Amino acid sequence: MKITFYGHACFGVEIAGEHLLFDPFITGNELASGIDISTIPADYILLSHGHEDHVLDAEAIAKRTGAKIIATFEIVNWYLEKGVDGHSMNLGGSWQFPFGKVKFVTAIHSSVLPDGTNGGNPGGFVIESEEGNFYFAGDTALTYDMKLIPMTCAPLDFAVLPIGDNFTMGYNDAAIAADWVEANKVLACHYDTFGYIVVDKEEAKKAFAKRGQDLIFMKIGESIDKNDL
Ligand code: NI
Ligand code: MN
Repeated sequence: MKITFYGHACFGVEIAGEHLLFDPFITGNELASGIDISTIPADYILLSHGHEDHVLDAEAIAKRTGAKIIATFEIVNWYLEKGVDGHSMNLGGSWQFPFGKVKFVTAIHSSVLPDGTNGGNPGGFVIESEEGNFYFAGDTALTYDMKLIPMTCAPLDFAVLPIGDNFTMGYNDAAIAADWVEANKVLACHYDTFGYIVVDKEEAKKAFAKRGQDLIFMKIGESIDKNDL
């Protein structure tokens, strides 16, 4: 399983030769100006919610690659009208895809698409595959529902958690979330992109280290194998 960070909350994950892309927001992110979206591979684009800083480049990448959107019914319908195919889900549901199983889980946030269309409920994804299992939280507050993940899903190899505060949990709450989902390795996301979410990375790492967890800051454009986290 190869993981690539494209900035903000956008990650590519390659599983058994299939490319998953989460929450593509690149052309609007000054910090990701070195990334050319025409080179990003995608077979599936997973959208946690409808906010622009999670969906901005999904249409262009889906049209170039033929990737399917995996998101709520409301978001998938919005893309169907644009000629982009998808697989719609809702909270609590799982589906077996060729690369593995996807469960759409609770996030406490909001979800409106860039033109004001209702995106349904926001969510996160738990991916279980032969190459490993992980939780992509999306934008969320710390919520007790996270405790359901280790009760209902396979043990996680890592989690992708927002840590930037203001719009989502900050790093102190995210460290509690890592405990609750039972992930000792956490990839940080949703920090530094905007003024409100700039974080002190050393302080953030300390908050996780206190709980015996490793908070990992990937460089934008960096790829890493899951086994090297
Ligand atoms: Ni959001
Ligand atoms: Mn966001």
